[in-house]
Amino acid sequence: MSETHTTPESDRGSDALLELSGVTAGYGNTTVIHDVELAVEEESIACLIGPNGSGKSTLMKSVYGFADVFEGAVRFDGDDVTGRSPQESLASGMSYVLQSASVFPDMSVHENMLMGGYVFEDDDRARERAEELYEEFPIIGDIRDQKAGTLSGGQRRLLELARALMVDPELMLLDEPSIGLEPKFIDDVFERIRQLNDLGTTLLLVEQNAEKGLSVADRGFVLASGEIKFAGTGTELLEDEEVGRLYLGG
Ligand SMILES: Nc1ncnc2c1ncn2[C@@H]1O[C@H](COP(=O)(O)OP(=O)(O)O)[C@@H](O)[C@H]1O
Ligand SMILES: [Mg+2]
Repeated sequence: MSETHTTPESDRGSDALLELSGVTAGYGNTTVIHDVELAVEEESIACLIGPNGSGKSTLMKSVYGFADVFEGAVRFDGDDVTGRSPQESLASGMSYVLQSASVFPDMSVHENMLMGGYVFEDDDRARERAEELYEEFPIIGDIRDQKAGTLSGGQRRLLELARALMVDPELMLLDEPSIGLEPKFIDDVFERIRQLNDLGTTLLLVEQNAEKGLSVADRGFVLASGEIKFAGTGTELLEDEEVGRLYLGG
């Protein structure tokens, strides 16, 4: 699999909803990821794995606008979006679920949901969208009046996913959706990821739980020391001897 140091030509097709070419990014004077080539096809799931500190979150942040892109380009839906702000990214059809917990604990579940729709000019639209999502996520609908700070870890993660859907995004960036969850909630979250994808959402996820992540993914990427070391289908990475030994604990 050493040939995959360079991204295959097939990754540069026009069907890519998201495309990073030669992206070098970081924060201020610090470069964290180097010369990253990565493409996510429309309506697919891509999973990024790699050791802690390798720059996975930074890569996601460089797409959304939380990190600085020093070189290269990010294209989304055919547009050059390099250097856009998070607000612009959200308005253009991306949403980002952060690695760290991001619910507002003193607000109700419903108020948290409405915050996810703050880009709507019209409050009625946000309320209607929240109602639609309560039907898709009855677990969240049932606890809409509860303070978010009182939710279990699994409920919080579902709220974060539902809130990120308020804008009906084309692309969802999910940073470690299963981190810190009990096993039964982990399966729940991956089931949701599959469902969202079936409904047409394109997903780029980062996962510590590499086997679960790669098993739902159409394509997988291994990031180490800020560089893409392997790229392939989820199955190819799961079956690759070197990837298994170095990154899957096999
Ligand atoms: N806001 C920041 N400012 C400066 N350095 C950062 C910042 N966030 C992360 N880093 C550094 O970038 C490197 C990669 O971090 P990160 O992207 O969070 O990796 P991963 O998500 O793979 O664990 C780490 O060395 C980390 O210290
Ligand atoms: Mg991270």
